[in-house]
Amino acid sequence: MRTITLINGDGIGPEISEAVVKIIAASGLGIDWEIQTAGENVIAEEGSPLPDRVIESIKKNKIALKAPVTTPIGKGFRSVNVQLRKALDLYANLRPCKNLPNIKTRFDNVDIVVVRENTEDLYAGIERMQDDDTAESIKRITRNASERICKFAFDYALKNGRKEVCVVTKANIMKLSDGLFLNAFRDVAANYSSVKNREILVDNLCMQLVQKPEQFDVLVLPNLYGDIVSDLCAGLIGGLGVAQGANIGEDYAVFEPVHGSAPDIAGKNSANPTALLLSAIEMLRFISEYVYADKIESALFKTLENGLMTKDLGGHCSTSEFTEAVISNL
Ligand code: NAI
Repeated sequence: MRTITLINGDGIGPEISEAVVKIIAASGLGIDWEIQTAGENVIAEEGSPLPDRVIESIKKNKIALKAPVTTPIGKGFRSVNVQLRKALDLYANLRPCKNLPNIKTRFDNVDIVVVRENTEDLYAGIERMQDDDTAESIKRITRNASERICKFAFDYALKNGRKEVCVVTKANIMKLSDGLFLNAFRDVAANYSSVKNREILVDNLCMQLVQKPEQFDVLVLPNLYGDIVSDLCAGLIGGLGVAQGANIGEDYAVFEPVHGSAPDIAGKNSANPTALLLSAIEMLRFISEYVYADKIESALFKTLENGLMTKDLGGHCSTSEFTEAVISNL
């Protein structure tokens, strides 16, 4: 039986993790989940929101499924998510956004894959107060990281039959940092003659995405734009409750939804487990459990086709009712 690390998170994390573990077990696939807690709740006892045991567990098992972990805003500890991505060098954040059955949105032809650089940019957290009234944040972009993520995007496109990779920057204003990312993209693109390449500025991209999203295929972006644009893309397919993601490096992969810990609905049995479930389905494909991945995906799609949905999608199901419905469709 395969052992996989499960970070069950906080906020809605434990509820949706329980739902996904239940669904996978009901599919007949045996997984030995190594549950690892992280975040604010473990600081008092262990002195850190991301204790070494969590990293060690992922290093041992190579794969993790992760529910969201709260990050305090404007103060407090550094994001567990950012630390984890850095510690395991999970340089590629992959966020596929495709319409799902029976979920009505403004567009029915969205099929975009957001590839977000995950290790640098303004997310490196290099900040300081110059004086009491002036804060500085350093935007650091390196050629190595930029080439690596662009190569990942083109390889992904090739492997998955995608036609185009579009780089997203603001290189007209940040000529050095975004300029470097753009130049790295151009250098990498020259080696992939069978995949089209395109360049767009991030502000124009945002407008185009909410008017004609069907024109985009694979997008590759520096960290901050990638974070924002992937939430926008999540909105195009039904919102954060259905947006899956993965953080992938050379040696390890952590699968997690795009959404956060949703403190506004935590503990109310109303969170949508779909985003975490779709992330888990991709994780199963990653470890070559295709039969179970397809089986669970079919059960999820059948549930949605039958009109059973959680409140974020306009439905009436609680988390547990939705989970039971997926299980009964397995
Ligand atoms: P959020 O994604 O938690 O919530 C935004 C809105 O979407 C809320 O109204 C929430 O109820 C709704 N929502 C999110 N997931 C949902 C689901 N599965 N089902 C139904 N509704 C859902 O974003 P927010 O409020 O900005 O962040 C809350 C906390 O989560 C913050 O501490 C943030 O730092 C953290 N966070 C953690 C992430 C991670 O662990 N990977 C990613 C993003 C945010």
